[in-house]
Amino acid sequence: MELSELENIAQEIEAYSIESTETLEAFRIKYIGSKGLIKGLFKEIKNVAPEERKAFGQKLNALKNLAEDRHKTQQNSFSTDNKKATKSTEDWTRPAEEANLGSRHPVSLVMNQMVEIFRTIGFGISEGPEIEDDWHNFTALNIPKDHPARDMQDTFFLSKDPDTVLRTHTSSVQVRVMEKEDPPIRTISPGRVYRNETISARAHCIFHQVEGLYIDKSVSFADLKQTLYYFATQMFGEKTKIRFRPSYFPFTEPSAEMDISCFFCEGAGCNICKKTGWVEIGGCGMVDPAVLSNCNIDPEKYTGFAFGMGVERIAMLKYQINDIRLFFENDIRFIQQFKSVR
Ligand code: DAH
Repeated sequence: MELSELENIAQEIEAYSIESTETLEAFRIKYIGSKGLIKGLFKEIKNVAPEERKAFGQKLNALKNLAEDRHKTQQNSFSTDNKKATKSTEDWTRPAEEANLGSRHPVSLVMNQMVEIFRTIGFGISEGPEIEDDWHNFTALNIPKDHPARDMQDTFFLSKDPDTVLRTHTSSVQVRVMEKEDPPIRTISPGRVYRNETISARAHCIFHQVEGLYIDKSVSFADLKQTLYYFATQMFGEKTKIRFRPSYFPFTEPSAEMDISCFFCEGAGCNICKKTGWVEIGGCGMVDPAVLSNCNIDPEKYTGFAFGMGVERIAMLKYQINDIRLFFENDIRFIQQFKSVR
């Protein structure tokens, strides 16, 4: 055994790559274990020439220290790595964080429900622009310029000549549909509308309406009643009753306002119905022949009914919400209460 051989082994030990506790153990077995290389070399001493024995012994001891030091430092570094890992500040027992799914806005919920009810009895859906011209919002609906009926709806005017407004009702969409399509027409138009109103618990400058229109040969007021009766029972429950009160709208003749029996007290009288047993949910009537003519539909051949309902109003009744402003504040505490409603 030559001294130079010990030199080679020393280099080998220094270069040995130890990346894991497994390779560290392999290193230990190979060099410093009871059956390891260094133990074996100590046994070789007796075969070394006597004059070289001392130097060989010293070199071998140095080799042993080298291997043991390398083992120790590597072992320490692994255990501090481990400590670092277990010292993490995560709490692994903590329950998983809830995925926040959000919820549908009550206005969307009620609007979807209304659309769905009318869809099942054959109504399609139509939409129109929120920025509307004078013709579709007023004139075609039998509300000529300077007519006092314009005062019924406080309007946001956008421009004069051409006159454009933020639509004050979704009745504008029925004009657009009648201009485009031939009867029979059966459509509902859900959408956002605007009025220049002072904001209070009962009124807002933005709200939503669902407009309905049915034009065909010999459509009657009885059809209107039956359609709205079906809607009311689907929306508010089988026991709901309806009643019509004579009213005035420029675009219908005759016109009526529709009430439903208070589904909350079932007609006995409570705060919601102001002790009357009835709550108003919208306007309706037979489409005025002048409106049909304005939209190129022959009033001698066709008749039709129309109705318009406020979505917030229905949502307020259904969910007993006493302030319309809540719909527009987007307070998560309000909106989240509708999480389980489909
Ligand atoms: N457009 C009316 C409003 O906003 C509601 C309305 C009443 C619509 C009667 C209709 C109707 O179609 O026939 O106050």
